[in-house]
Amino acid sequence: MESNDGGVLLFAWRGCLFRVPDAVQPPKTGSLFLCRHLDVRSGERMLEIGGGLGLAAVLAAKAGADVVATDINPEAVEVIRANAILNGVAVDARLGDCYAPVRGERFDLVCTNAPQMPTPPDRARRDAVAAADNGGVDGWETLDRVIGGARQHLRPGGRLIITIFAFLGRKTAFAKLEAAGFMPTIVASEVQSFPRIGFERLDHIRSFDVEASLPAGIPATVERLVIQGTAPE
Ligand SMILES: C[S@@+](CC[C@H](N)C(=O)[O-])C[C@H]1O[C@@H](n2cnc3c(N)ncnc32)[C@H](O)[C@@H]1O
Repeated sequence: MESNDGGVLLFAWRGCLFRVPDAVQPPKTGSLFLCRHLDVRSGERMLEIGGGLGLAAVLAAKAGADVVATDINPEAVEVIRANAILNGVAVDARLGDCYAPVRGERFDLVCTNAPQMPTPPDRARRDAVAAADNGGVDGWETLDRVIGGARQHLRPGGRLIITIFAFLGRKTAFAKLEAAGFMPTIVASEVQSFPRIGFERLDHIRSFDVEASLPAGIPATVERLVIQGTAPE
């Protein structure tokens, strides 16, 4: 017989409480890093792609933004709605891939802490855990799609805010943002613990670390960046 005696995992931060269901990734240092540097103003319309359990979305709604959060994981969409209610705010949570749930809509701010762990082809999977971490062979698969669709979904002067591991390349990120018509700037840089999942694919990650951001040997830390692309007025 299946037991319902597994407990409820909760995450408390900045005066808010979040339910963390089994099928949705708990907040990590990258999630908090993005939230700390998400400059969202009251009245702005914000889109978060890959909202997870709704951390950034709920905090932005608390700050007075009008928030849409999407995710491809149905359990994430369900818990974003539940966590918004739990914290007394409204978040429009929608199920779907990248910009599909917001076709034809425009925002002041698009943000994402997209899955970005470089993934060897023989490690690719399609489950919810993989969707939260794996970013295709070079780590850019989802980020490229977010960057590529951002201009169409931003108002003039709107901002795209992403967080990336420095080993994905800050020059690469700037080149991708410029090619998509944005003016890129580094908003913040932070040194964090090296992600556990990264150890098992270290050689693969190193093969893409063209800017040599990782130290030799087994790295204990990784640099993480928040980068903004600003659209022309
Ligand atoms: C690294 S987790 C970040 C979750 C949350 N934003 C945070 O910072 O804690 C990435 C999230 O993106 C979702 N995701 C992955 N691919 C996606 C896609 N193509 N479209 C929308 N969401 C996606 C995953 O299900 C997961 O919830």
